[in-house]
Formats: sequence, structure tokens, C-alpha cells
Amino acid sequence: MARPKVTIIGAGMTGSTTAHWLAAMELADLVLVDIKEGLPQGKGLDLLEAMPIIGSDVHIVGTNDYEETAGSDVVIITAGLPRKPGMSRDDLLKANAGIVRSVAEQAIKHSPNAIFLVLTNPLDVMTYLTWKVTGLPHTKVIGQAGILDSARMRAFVAMELGVSVENVHCYVLGGHGDSMVPLTRHSNVAGVPLYKILPPDRLEAIVQRTRKGGGEIVSLLKTGSAFYAPAAALAQMTEAILKDKHLIVPASAYLTGEYGVSDIYFGVPVQLGRSGVEKIIEYDLNDEEMAALKQSAEHVKANIAKLEL
Ligand code: NAI
Ligand code: 2OP
Repeated sequence: MARPKVTIIGAGMTGSTTAHWLAAMELADLVLVDIKEGLPQGKGLDLLEAMPIIGSDVHIVGTNDYEETAGSDVVIITAGLPRKPGMSRDDLLKANAGIVRSVAEQAIKHSPNAIFLVLTNPLDVMTYLTWKVTGLPHTKVIGQAGILDSARMRAFVAMELGVSVENVHCYVLGGHGDSMVPLTRHSNVAGVPLYKILPPDRLEAIVQRTRKGGGEIVSLLKTGSAFYAPAAALAQMTEAILKDKHLIVPASAYLTGEYGVSDIYFGVPVQLGRSGVEKIIEYDLNDEEMAALKQSAEHVKANIAKLEL
């Protein structure tokens, strides 16, 4: 049986690290695409040469053109500029919209049946743009943010309590920005809600650190943004799709009235399988949580309007 094929556009920090995770999982043959000559070819070849060592039989190739991407099952878009210290994700909107538009237009021509996963920031806006440009059903275009934001919260809670990360389940919804909404009533440690375990000041500190988690890494790295955890999140989404796992994770999906929100891409719990978003799960939220989501949605909506589509 032919192995599935995954194209990763943007062979920078997140793109090449996603390829690394996926190659180690032996999930699919990989095509790395970048506008820089030599970069995807060099990284692709280096990664291919690691496969005998780790015992993975996937094929990996790097290229600057889209012929090689033909017939991909999943296309992952990471092409674009990352943040520098002092920048918000929104500051990237104009420059990255041009890049995402051009790569999505080229990728869809060669892989009309692919599921598109988007990482480029500002995430919810770039996912919306990819949906518009590809003309795909909205269930086949999905943005990655919620797995990352929730994983950051999980890591902070696990460190605070000295428990396994596997026991910590956190759910961060909303737009991928400072107005994201970490849900402290639904997040739990082995079934016990966080607000019952952590003192309010410690819980609030974790919520705030989660909201600013991306900025914390940018201020440490100084030349770019996070890549290990975002790439692991993309690999988890790819696996859920290719293995038809029906996995429920937070991700940016197109809303048609869920959570009282319409016509934007926004972070909500989704069920992922071979056809993309199979279902959007609606949590029971209180007034405060709904108000926070509404505020976040308005922020995303205003940014989508800047695209002037
Ligand atoms: P990077 O700078 O390391 O890599 C980006 C790559 O895109 C570069 O190699 C560049 O040559 C390439 N590129 C630019 N224009 C292109 C084009 N027209 N066609 C093909 N390739 C092109 O940046 P990094 O760290 O990989 O981040 C990529 C994007 O992902 C940024 O916008 C960043 O903000 C975003 N990001 C989003 C996250 C999320 O959770 N949604 C998490 C981490 C990063
Ligand atoms: C992050 O949250 C850069 O959006 C990216 O790390």
C-alpha cells in the first residue's frame, strides 16, 4: 500500500521540525518546500540520511517548486515571517497574507483533495485566508494553535503540582493571541478541575503565563519564535487525520454559529479524522467564559476584515 504523502511549505524552524517529528513517526512520505534555494533540499536530504539510524522507511525530498507536491494527502503551511521581540502576531498580517495566499494557490493546484493545516500567524486569519484561496470545504482547512496553547498550560500545571503531564488536561479556546481563553473549570488533573486544586493566585499566574507563552519564547530566542511544541502539535494533527483517529483537540475551525460565533476561524474543540473536522464540540460555558470568547472572536473578526477579501 502506498504511504500517505505530506507536504510542508516553509522549511524554516517550524516546518523542518514538523518534518523531523513526522519522519520519526514513520507516518508519511514528506515533501519540504521553501522559496529559499537549497534550504529545503539540504534539510530534506539531511533528514533522509537520518532515517537508516532511526529505522524509518519514509521518503523525504526538498524542493522549490510544487510539481513534487502533487497528490499530497495533507498540506501544512508554515511559510511566513515569525515574530521578533516586541512584535505581536497581528503585526505579521500584511506580509504573511501575501505569502500564504501565494503558497496556498500553488499547493491546491497540485493537491486538490488534500487537507490543509495552517500554522502561519496571525493564525486564525491565515487559516481563513487559506480556506478562501483554496476553495475547499471549510472542514478541510484547519489551523493549529489550541494544541500548543493547551500544551503550554499543561506543562505549567504539571510543573506546579509535580504530577505527570499525562494526568493534566487543559483546554485553551479562542483566537491564537493574547485574548485566548484558558478554561479553568474544564481543565483538570486526573478528572479534578484545576480551580479545586490550585489556589486562585497560582491558577491566575498559570493562565497569564499561558496567554503570553509564545511571547515568552520569543523574548528568550530573540531571533524567532517557538518551534518544537508548535511542530509537535502539527504532527499530532497530521497523525489524527492520516490514521482517522477521531481525536478531539482544540484547533482553529470555521464556525457557523457554534459558541455564538459565525464566519471566522476560531479555536474550539474539534474532532479530527480522515475527512478533516468531523465535529465541533460545544462545551457548557458560563457567562464569564462566553464573554471572554466573544471578545476574542471580535478581535479575530476585525483582523480578518483587514484582509479585504
Ligand atoms: P522561519 O522563518 O524559521 O521559517 C519560515 C520559512 O518560510 C522560511 O524558511 C522562509 O524562507 C519560508 N518562506 C517565506 N516565504 C515563502 C514562500 N513564498 N514560499 C515558501 N516558503 C516561504 O519561521 P518559523 O519559526 O518556521 O515560523 C513560521 C510561521 O509560523 C510564522 O508566521 C510564525 O509566527 C508561525 N507560528 C505559528 C504558531 C502557531 O501556533 N500557530 C507557532 C509557531 C510559529
Ligand atoms: C507561539 O505561540 C509563535 O504563535 C507562536 O509560539
